[in-house]
Amino acid sequence: MSFHFKDGYLYCEELKIKDIQEQVPESPFYLYSLDQITSNYKAYESALEGIESIIGYAIKANNNLTILKHLRELGSGAVLVSGNELRMALAAGFDLKRAVLNGNGKTLGELILAVQHGVMINIDSEFDLEHIQQAAKEVGKVADVLIRINPDVDPEVHPYVSTGIKNSKFGIRNERLKWFLDQIKTEPLLDLIGVHCHLGSTIKKVRIFRDATVLMMEFIETIRNEGFDLKYLNIGGGLGIDYEKTGEYIPTPSHLIDSIGDVLPDDVELIIEPGRSIIGNAAVFVNRVTGVKTNGNKHFIVIDGSMAELIRPSLYDTYQHIDFIEPVDGEVKTYDVVGPVCESADFLGKDRPLPTPHEGAGLIVYDAGAYCYAMSSNYNLKMRPPEYLVDGDRLIQIRRAETFEGYMRLFEV
Ligand code: LLP
Repeated sequence: MSFHFKDGYLYCEELKIKDIQEQVPESPFYLYSLDQITSNYKAYESALEGIESIIGYAIKANNNLTILKHLRELGSGAVLVSGNELRMALAAGFDLKRAVLNGNGKTLGELILAVQHGVMINIDSEFDLEHIQQAAKEVGKVADVLIRINPDVDPEVHPYVSTGIKNSKFGIRNERLKWFLDQIKTEPLLDLIGVHCHLGSTIKKVRIFRDATVLMMEFIETIRNEGFDLKYLNIGGGLGIDYEKTGEYIPTPSHLIDSIGDVLPDDVELIIEPGRSIIGNAAVFVNRVTGVKTNGNKHFIVIDGSMAELIRPSLYDTYQHIDFIEPVDGEVKTYDVVGPVCESADFLGKDRPLPTPHEGAGLIVYDAGAYCYAMSSNYNLKMRPPEYLVDGDRLIQIRRAETFEGYMRLFEV
């Protein structure tokens, strides 16, 4: 285990997090375990052994350059949702021919960049198809495209992260498939090489991936019957992780791949787009307790981190486990763990049975690798925190903290 307790102290690999907290100048900060990232990636690699496939890490989950370079070195492809993610993938040295650009609102500029670099592009709508054609003409190069199908399978997740049901804003209207195919046939600068779907995020039942794969195979057959030579089936990302830590069953990459194994024919190459399941459990968000207070019948632990650095609990009312990194033996009470930001949406956890901490105690939010730093903001003029990485017994800073001076420079216009 990359994060484990010894004698009441939490360790990241071989380092005591309390020592790190005392050593680094900033608080709060993000702390990653390199070993956890590697083993998460390898879990996909071994699940896919013997299957022609691309593991496309979804950069939106966490775009730290050091982490991206590490995943690229392990053999990962990249899944992109913006021109800047494409530029970041280039900076990290990814092979962009093994990258996919997704999105329901890709701009012409982003599409031109994608075509220039040979990135596979998912067609999301009629206007998107038109823009991809325009981009291919402008660059004077064939664009490799996949059609994003809406399989209308309910991923049984929070509505904000559900994307593959009929009324979602993503993908084509399936009744229009024939229209899309006819358009593509008339355009020599488009090469239709596959189909794509992405059902949603935090999925905990592999049956859902299986149902979608069965449907997608039917689409592949229909499209092949129209004379297209499809190579790729892209089933998106979305595998959930163990946020709750209740011992509930959480499928692994091999459960996922095993569940679709018998419906995958040999003549398609599989693309998967995991984000959270590669990076989510590889980091903790490390805070200090500023103080403890009681209002009415509510008890609060106030920490220096907030919804500005980690917004998932506020935005999705989602659970991320919270613990102290050191022995704390005050009276156990039911606490809301909150930050200093001036609104009541600012909480990291609600109704948590925790011992009453002393001021300065180290408190962490688990599973902070995916969509945490990536969704942070400057709300209340909090500066984004630094990121550190542990590799065995080495601590490496992998992102600087933002500074107020840096922020003020944005106004020098
Ligand atoms: N592929 C596509 C097309 C996606 O839209 C996403 C995520 C992924 C792959 C990666 O999904 P993952 O394996 O990470 O679940 N901010 C939310 C999550 C939004 C996910 C959006 N799409 C959160 O904090 O839970």
